[in-house]
Amino acid sequence: MTTDAPAPQPTWTPAWDRAEGEERARALFTATFDARPDGVWSAPGRVNLIGEHTDYNGGLALPIALPHRTYAAVARRDDDLVRLVSAQEPSGVREVRLADVAPGTVDGWAAYVVGVAWALREARHAVGGFDLAIDSCVPFGAGLSSSAALEAAVAVALDAVYAVGLAGAVVDGAADDDAGRATLAGLCVRAENEMAGAPTGGMDQAASLRARGGHALLLDCRDGAVRHVPFDLTGHGLALLVVDTRAPHSHVDGEYAQRRAACDRAADLLGVPDLREVAQDADRRAQAEAVLAPEADGDVLVRRVRHVVTEIDRVTEFVTRLEDGDVHGVGPVMDASHASLRDDYEVSCRELDVAVDAARAAGALGARMTGGGFGGSAIALVPADAVEHVAEAVAAAFAREGLRAPAFAEAVAAPPAG
Ligand code: GLA
Repeated sequence: MTTDAPAPQPTWTPAWDRAEGEERARALFTATFDARPDGVWSAPGRVNLIGEHTDYNGGLALPIALPHRTYAAVARRDDDLVRLVSAQEPSGVREVRLADVAPGTVDGWAAYVVGVAWALREARHAVGGFDLAIDSCVPFGAGLSSSAALEAAVAVALDAVYAVGLAGAVVDGAADDDAGRATLAGLCVRAENEMAGAPTGGMDQAASLRARGGHALLLDCRDGAVRHVPFDLTGHGLALLVVDTRAPHSHVDGEYAQRRAACDRAADLLGVPDLREVAQDADRRAQAEAVLAPEADGDVLVRRVRHVVTEIDRVTEFVTRLEDGDVHGVGPVMDASHASLRDDYEVSCRELDVAVDAARAAGALGARMTGGGFGGSAIALVPADAVEHVAEAVAAAFAREGLRAPAFAEAVAAPPAG
């Protein structure tokens, strides 16, 4: 007699359609503030296709915006009071006076919202108080940039209600003022780094504000330049499966800061402004190991640098394959990225490794962790007719390993904040 437990059914996290998201935020606003908002704005989460832990090294990254969005219903006020409510936060209405805001004065999710208003004011934009209600279908803590989605939704909302003039319009999935949006993305990064105290690199905010529907965003983090690379999996009979491992992210902030510090130290030792310089200079690349290895933590530094420079190469390789129409060919590039993040950069974890291994065993053409790591999500490139099968196989592997059940989503390249 067998005692096998029944196979677990995968849990899916669908994206709301726009009308539903807008209505939810508007209803929360009205119920909370007994008034109508001036409008509802929204911004997407992201998955990064490849180019991980390269953004703060001046490298290349290739994110897409997700159809999962954060919705912000906002009304401008005549004073400098900010009143905030979120359907995801049971703590009720938060109130903050902008005159009192400085780094370290606002905690929790409100820091991301107030931080954007603070950064706009620091940049001398005439932004005052506002009432805001948030609702979101971007899974929180899943490494899908729920914080950047929140910042970007607030940024485009304040841009509109205070006529800042940076966000422009989105027409057919494309933003018509990329330069303005690059500035807004920079202000969102300030909010995250300085007000929320998270030392992240900027890819997420760029993806949420500057991505284009149907395209991946090739982001050059050295000068902020972007190129939109057509990314149509459906036309190739493929799909992108997102596995939210739901692994508890312990120590994630400290580990992230340590990786960043190791890269900065290696760049100093190598006498370059950032590791991008090493990636694109054959001589420096050849010498890096000899310079770093004698340091006390030389073995670690060598591996961290090796990840960053090879990952930058992999972004270029991935884009070349996409542009050559060899979409199946990006699978092995994804696999190599995962191995490098796991072995050299050491930011994977058991749940992420189980997810990518199980996805590949079930027929994925390639799979990798996405985002900062230590939990969060993995992505797998799968034949469109095998999405359900691969999800079932991953869910079964998690159950076998005694891990908490993961959640799944399907990613398509969606439009930016607007
Ligand atoms: C997090 C950060 C990004 C980036 C990734 C790793 O998502 O927010 O800036 O560094 O990790 O690629």
